[in-house]
Amino acid sequence: MPELEPGPSRIDTSRPHPARVYDYILGGKNNYPVDEELAKRVLAIDPTVTTSARTNRAFMRHATEWLARAGIRQYLDIGTGIPTEPNLHQIAQAIAPDARIVYTDNDPIVLCHAEALLRSTPQGLTHYLEADVRDPDRIVQQAGEVLDFGEPIALSLISLMHFIDDGDGAYDLVRRLVEALAPGSHLVLSHATADGDAQAGEEVVALYRRSGVTLRPRSHAEVARFFEGLEPVGSGLVRVSDWRPDIAESTLLTDGEQVTVYAGLARKP
Ligand SMILES: C[S@@+](CC[C@H](N)C(=O)[O-])C[C@H]1O[C@@H](n2cnc3c(N)ncnc32)[C@H](O)[C@@H]1O
Repeated sequence: MPELEPGPSRIDTSRPHPARVYDYILGGKNNYPVDEELAKRVLAIDPTVTTSARTNRAFMRHATEWLARAGIRQYLDIGTGIPTEPNLHQIAQAIAPDARIVYTDNDPIVLCHAEALLRSTPQGLTHYLEADVRDPDRIVQQAGEVLDFGEPIALSLISLMHFIDDGDGAYDLVRRLVEALAPGSHLVLSHATADGDAQAGEEVVALYRRSGVTLRPRSHAEVARFFEGLEPVGSGLVRVSDWRPDIAESTLLTDGEQVTVYAGLARKP
């Protein structure tokens, strides 16, 4: 059983949580039997999920490296997940030690492990905010105490928005977050899809629903809507395994395996 502190009483072990299911899929130890059970059921329907998750982490690493080299010094990462090395700040600060990072998640288990996210370089800064992406104004206001919204920020919503239904204003809240950013800012977004295997997608959605978790895979066109008004960088919105400029982990893919995640990076003009 993982050690959970502070606030273990806030951890609900009676039902699976996305952060913990993802941790199990990535081979982490910060999950419970309910999370493992759901992950195993998902893997039985779609065995490519492990590759999708690993390749998604590779996308985060390569996009962050690209952004740091492009001069971005501020990062707002929403839906951070349980820390998994290397974390975003480690990548950004390895290139730009003065980078400032605000991490956000709404799952109390992430707060329990936030210490790993807060080991900043002395020149830079990291900060953790427990908040829900469905409250974008609060995130902008509180992140604004650490980040300068008058300067470019990389906003990352990596494997997050498929947990937000259309009815919860998914497009509107991303638009509000992007509106708050200065020109020259970037949106880094990856998102689950059922394109290519609608039946598997429906089965996975039903599994999550029975566990009390909303999952809303989106088509390429639906994910592309999150980037409206932004200028695509590199390969645009593609399967996460195809994302360039420099994704090295494409060798993770076995022949013919089709990952179920789209990824893209775009600049605010
Ligand atoms: C699949 S994990 C992705 C973690 C990390 N971004 C990555 O791609 O490696 C999704 C994360 O989003 C968080 N999340 C889900 N719904 C959220 C919401 N409404 N507000 C903030 N975070 C949320 C979960 O707790 C989980 O940590």
